[in-house]
Amino acid sequence: MHSNRRKFLQSATMASVALAFDPFCVSATTKETVGIVRKPVVISTWSFGIQANDAAWAILSKDGRALDAVEAGVRVPEADPNERSVGYGGRPDRDGRVTLDACIMDEWSNIGSVACLEYIKHPISVARAVMEKTPHVMLVGDGALQFALSQGFPKENLLVEASEKEWKEWLKTSKYEPVVNIENHDTIGMIALDNQGNLSGACTTSGMAFKMHGRVGDSPIIGAGLYVDNEIGAATATGHGEEVIRIAGCHLVVELMRQGKTPQQACEEAVSRIVKLTKIRGKNLKDIQVGFIALNKQGEHGAYCIQGGFNYALNDATGNKLIDADYFLK
Ligand code: GLY
Repeated sequence: MHSNRRKFLQSATMASVALAFDPFCVSATTKETVGIVRKPVVISTWSFGIQANDAAWAILSKDGRALDAVEAGVRVPEADPNERSVGYGGRPDRDGRVTLDACIMDEWSNIGSVACLEYIKHPISVARAVMEKTPHVMLVGDGALQFALSQGFPKENLLVEASEKEWKEWLKTSKYEPVVNIENHDTIGMIALDNQGNLSGACTTSGMAFKMHGRVGDSPIIGAGLYVDNEIGAATATGHGEEVIRIAGCHLVVELMRQGKTPQQACEEAVSRIVKLTKIRGKNLKDIQVGFIALNKQGEHGAYCIQGGFNYALNDATGNKLIDADYFLK
């Protein structure tokens, strides 16, 4: 055995006392030896990721499937009327309508997505139903609502008093100027590696506050707001969806990991593409926030964003903690 590799394996083994390592784990899909794996692990965007991770961990820690964990996890902020950027309680568009975007992806590259969905508190579960019960991968607007109702999801008013008040205040100027890290404290994206060594991810949001009616961000777009490749890793994004879509952000992060980059390096490279394009396009980087989080098949994670203020929640065998992401604009 190469001595550096032996040293790495020895030190990793020594550090494994409190961690669920799986030496020489065999990948479910590739049947290749992939080295030491830290699992299960779940990572999600922003501080509401802590509660979301708790729900995901309840499943992962009992040998549950990553797909079930990420769905259960992101349903927590979706159901919280005090969260102004996801699901029930989300800020409306400029017409006062709460329109939700979500997508989900499993270890077999099954995908499901909904965009501009109204009246349904849990778009992530509708996205999963699209994935599992239709021949399609994405439903939008009235069609998504029609499908959700046909599946028994209840129709509910999602515009809570506080969000309606903010919208009425906004109408006085009607200026679309998203504030970085406030109106952009948006999406919950969650990615997880389960005890079977399989990856899944989920992403859900009410989108940018006071957006044009019909606007769709990155969060329901597979490859932009979320991507999972069970041989390599997974990534999810938060922030200005237009910028994430421009670089097919999460697919890029996963492809960079495929090329050998660590999750941290991959997130940094994706952010640097946005930085470069922003300059080329003559836009002001200070007006933009995008953050990526990534997890590889070995359970290593990374995160990076354009400007300070983005944090993420990491839950592994050592516990559930909030971490400030490193950032570009210092
Ligand atoms: N990242 C969420 C959105 O742009 O809608």
